[in-house]
Formats: sequence, C-alpha cells, structure tokens
Amino acid sequence: MKKLLILSILIINSLLACTKMKQEIKGNFVNPNGETELAAFMKSIHDETLLAKVACLKGEKYTFTTEEQTIFTSDAADPDKVASERYQMFGQAYLNSLDAYKKASNTDLEDSYNQMVGACENCHQALCPGPLVRVKRLYL
Ligand code: HEC
Repeated sequence: MKKLLILSILIINSLLACTKMKQEIKGNFVNPNGETELAAFMKSIHDETLLAKVACLKGEKYTFTTEEQTIFTSDAADPDKVASERYQMFGQAYLNSLDAYKKASNTDLEDSYNQMVGACENCHQALCPGPLVRVKRLYL
C-alpha cells in the first residue's frame, strides 16, 4: 500500500514537472495579462505612428523611440508566423519605410508617412488581418 502511494506521488510529480516545462518552453507571455511581447511592441509602434500622424498634420516630424529590431526578436502569439520568410520580408519593408520617413525632407514627409502606414497594412493584410481597421485609421 505504502509503495503504491509513493509510486503515485512520483507519477503526479513527474506530470506536474512536465506541464511546468511546457510552459517554460512556450514562454510567449511576458505579462500577467497574457499579452505577447510582439503585441506589446505593436501597440507601442501603433501609438508612436499616431503621434507621427499628429506631428505630420502640423507639418512636423516625429522622432520614433521604439527599438526597431524588436519586430524580429519579439516572441509572438504564433512563433512560426514570425519566423516565416514572408514575415521577415514584410518586417524588413516596414523598417525600410521607417528609415525613409526618418530621412524624409519636409516636402515628402506626408508621402513617406503614408508609405510607412502602407508597410504596416501590407503585413497585416497577409498575416494578421485583425488589427487592420486600426492600422488603416493611421493614414493621413
Ligand atoms: C512584419 C509584419 C508586421 C508589420 C510590418 C506590422 N505588424 Fe502589427 N502585428 C503583426 C502581427 C503578427 C501581430 C500579432 C502579434 C501577436 O499577437 O503576437 C500584430 C499586431 C498588431 C496590433 C494588435 C496589438 C494588440 O493589441 O494585441 C496592432 C494595433 C498592430 N499590429 C499595428 C501595427 C502598426 C500600426 C504597424 C506599423 C507601424 C504594424 N502593426 C506593423 C505583424 C506586423
């Protein structure tokens, strides 16, 4: 009887250890709300892009502060999607358009701003249509 008890404790323990390990491997959730690192990054670039829109309407350029490369390093809800070639391509296109915006002169500020939002839209059309409404609202 005692043996059986010890055996079942051992089994339960290993089962618990297993579920714990699974959670650690998944490692997507960086805060208690269960939000992914990529989702948090997206919110911050969304908010910054909105600030850039407001600045643009005043004829001014906004200085982005988010760490751009995070687009490639963040943990996503769906890691396979982020590792895909298409994601990498759209991500690079977005970074290029951000770079163009940073270098834009006053005369092509609006154009480069809209192109940057276009790069958000392209990736979202292809890989993550959910937030498209919010993305499209960013156009000038
Ligand atoms: C290379 C692809 C790609 C680009 C470029 C991109 N996004 Fe995203 N975005 C995603 C993916 C994938 C998610 C889903 C993230 C997750 O849930 O882990 C997402 C999520 C979001 C969300 C939802 C965040 C939330 O509340 O959960 C918003 C808003 C968003 N993106 C806005 C933007 C804006 C604005 C831009 C441009 C400045 C942009 N995205 C550029 C792929 C992209």
